[in-house]
Amino acid sequence: MSLKGAFHPPGDKSISHRIALMALLASGECSVTNFSPCADVGSSLDAVKLIGVGARVDENGLTVNGAAGNISKSARIDCGNSGTTTRLLMGILAGRQGDFVLDGDASLRKRPMERVAIPLRAMGAVIDCTEGRLPVTVSGGALQGIEYDLPVASAQLKSAVLLAGIQGAGVTSVREPSASRDHTERLLQSWGARISHVSGRLLVENSALSLPPSLYVPGDASSAAFFLCAAAIIPGSEVTAEQMLLNPTRTGFLEVLKRMGAQIEVQLQGTEPEPRGSVTVRFTPNLAACRVSPGEIPALVDEVPILALVATQSRGTTVLEGVGELRLKESDRLAAVASQLGLMGARITVDGDVLIVEGPSTLKAPELLQSYSDHRIAMTLRLAALMVGADPVIEGEESTAISYPGFHDTLWELTR
Ligand code: S3P
Repeated sequence: MSLKGAFHPPGDKSISHRIALMALLASGECSVTNFSPCADVGSSLDAVKLIGVGARVDENGLTVNGAAGNISKSARIDCGNSGTTTRLLMGILAGRQGDFVLDGDASLRKRPMERVAIPLRAMGAVIDCTEGRLPVTVSGGALQGIEYDLPVASAQLKSAVLLAGIQGAGVTSVREPSASRDHTERLLQSWGARISHVSGRLLVENSALSLPPSLYVPGDASSAAFFLCAAAIIPGSEVTAEQMLLNPTRTGFLEVLKRMGAQIEVQLQGTEPEPRGSVTVRFTPNLAACRVSPGEIPALVDEVPILALVATQSRGTTVLEGVGELRLKESDRLAAVASQLGLMGARITVDGDVLIVEGPSTLKAPELLQSYSDHRIAMTLRLAALMVGADPVIEGEESTAISYPGFHDTLWELTR
């Protein structure tokens, strides 16, 4: 069955998280349209409401009242399944007087938090992790700026240090091994923070933030990617994502699709607060395998599972290098992709931090597939099943609500 038509992806998850979380440090009132309805962002919103941000939803969208740093002195915060909630909150709370306990679900409790605690401790916060993981206790207070070279290209880690840095004394500077998503920097800049780029380093100083009167959240590129990538490999498909975020730190998957030979058209539809536009992808027979280097991975880190599916339909050996971070996501995404697409007949191997896909393969769906309750694995498998005209049970498929609650509705609309 082919995918045909236009759709609006939900508001971008990463930007929505940041609007909610950074409102803890900002003053003013902001009316936000197209705010993400996903469960992960719900975790951020619940957390900030618990400790001081005002938020109300009406027919116009979400109105946020910033806490300007006036937040509760102690709280136990449930971050659900959300790594972004946890790690950005660690950076924000590190600079506030108080004692906070952060915890989350079984998947989040397995993910590394020590990497965030290390620079925040160096700045003066007292942070206790449980064997490097959740539950984490943050006892914040006066911070001192640091010079920090990130050991991994992680936007969550970078954001935690920057959000601590704007509360600290002196200058905080970070350098990343390769460019990760830059939404925190963009919002800091437009909310009045002192932030600059100097010789490959990002510098922030103690700053007061003010919310703009209104914000429009562009459509989530990582959600749109599932339908756009599937359209490239399902015969007869042509799909358009409207108002999709076009920030180049997020659209690496489009570059890879282009390199494979896919037919893509992009039209700019707006620029504030970030570029956005309509993206059309058409089915393209005879896609070619390609090589993706480690420096390209941060701009497509969440799209590796769906790109692996595209690679199963492309001629030759696709090699994605430097994808080790995928082992540390909501599930071990390298193992999940290799085992579940492998069960469908794909030829996928993992060699250290390299994912290798031989194509093309004729896939077929077994009756049962396993998503490991990981939203991005569940959506990849559902589109793989659609491609082969099957309707398997995908265990944990309800996890799609973590990032894309309307996923099945859009799937239905594009296939009817
Ligand atoms: C995110 C950063 C990425 C990404 C995640 C969202 C963010 O994680 O995988 O889905 O909003 O900052 P890392 O920072 O761990 O790479």
